[in-house]
Amino acid sequence: MSEVKFRRLGPSGLRVPLFSLGGWLTLGGTVVGDPVKDIIKVAFDNGINMFDTAEAYAKGRSEQEMGRVIKELGLRRTDLVITTKLFWGLRNGPNDGGLSRKHIIEGTKECLERLGLDYVDVIFAHRPDVSVPMEEIVRAFNWVIEKGWAHYWATSEWSAYEIEEAQHVATKFGLHPPIAEQCQHNMFHRERPEKEYHPLYKKYDLGITVFSALASGLLTGKYNDGIPEGTRFATHSKFFKGTVDSLQKEDGLTKIRKVNELSTLAEQELGCSVTHLALAWVAKNPNTSTVILGASKPEQVLDNLKALEVIPKLTPEVMDKIEAILDNKSAPPPTFGRPHLDPMGRL
Ligand SMILES: NC(=O)c1ccc[n+]([C@@H]2O[C@H](COP(=O)([O-])OP(=O)(O)OC[C@H]3O[C@@H](n4cnc5c(N)ncnc54)[C@H](OP(=O)(O)O)[C@@H]3O)[C@@H](O)[C@H]2O)c1
Repeated sequence: MSEVKFRRLGPSGLRVPLFSLGGWLTLGGTVVGDPVKDIIKVAFDNGINMFDTAEAYAKGRSEQEMGRVIKELGLRRTDLVITTKLFWGLRNGPNDGGLSRKHIIEGTKECLERLGLDYVDVIFAHRPDVSVPMEEIVRAFNWVIEKGWAHYWATSEWSAYEIEEAQHVATKFGLHPPIAEQCQHNMFHRERPEKEYHPLYKKYDLGITVFSALASGLLTGKYNDGIPEGTRFATHSKFFKGTVDSLQKEDGLTKIRKVNELSTLAEQELGCSVTHLALAWVAKNPNTSTVILGASKPEQVLDNLKALEVIPKLTPEVMDKIEAILDNKSAPPPTFGRPHLDPMGRL
């Protein structure tokens, strides 16, 4: 197995593994007890030292299970990068969620209690909160960092405009800016990470911590012929009803056709599975700091790490073939007749 390489997280000095592991729906949700330990152990033993969770995952149980396992495995805190996220909260009170100063401070304290840790490495704003002034949000995350409860803060599923605003507020008042964005990026979901954020990569060195790189499993090919029992779309059928229904319609059938074509390309030209190809394709993007894997079994972690061997095989010719199958690349911003410049700004 190839070694997991590290990349800087955005403009920060923090090094994160190209593949990390998250707990949405799995750790503390469908997976509890010893199996959580088995998954985290296999990840850590194979070079994954970054673990992502959120206050809302399994109503706080994801953080609790992750914290318990870190202790039980006797992992050294400095060897780990732990990230969690705030926004949805756990109760229904008017101040139990969102990004008010109150919830950012109280919510962070509760995350740390559930994790049993003194600090997290990165605290993410799990969504933007348009009802709170941006200055309040940036000041509150800055306070959390100055207090030592997090080393950095970052955003998740914020628009480019909102990230810009946070950057401007931070610069204006000399506060810590967000260092990364946690967004969805996969072969079927490209517009925001590839087009909308494009100017931010160069301007702020923005790094992305990618989620759902397998589109919740669709890009493994496991849903090509229906919904197998025990898989995510079956165990969370209510949440994924829209996605499952769409698989019977034109859009979904097109995706399945593409998964089949990508499988053939992966097997015949690269000697790998479509799962490995889909993960390697996201990891190859230079703006990706880390691809957060999701796994319901230890074997999936090991299988997914085989993508590391595929990344160097993604030559420009192979990438062109993938592009021809996907046929969903976003058009670059219009130049209105002015010729395109190369990445160095030259004609
Ligand atoms: N910031 C956000 O808003 C946000 C949103 C979503 C996720 N995230 C983060 O990103 C992480 C990853 O997202 P995700 O779980 O959606 O990622 P994903 O890779 O798209 O889906 C993971 C799921 O696919 C299946 N799977 C994974 N590897 C497989 C393999 N080799 N063969 C067959 N099936 C496989 C498993 O589900 P089954 O075995 O159950 O079918 C697994 O739980 C989350 O845990 C979370 O930390 C963040």
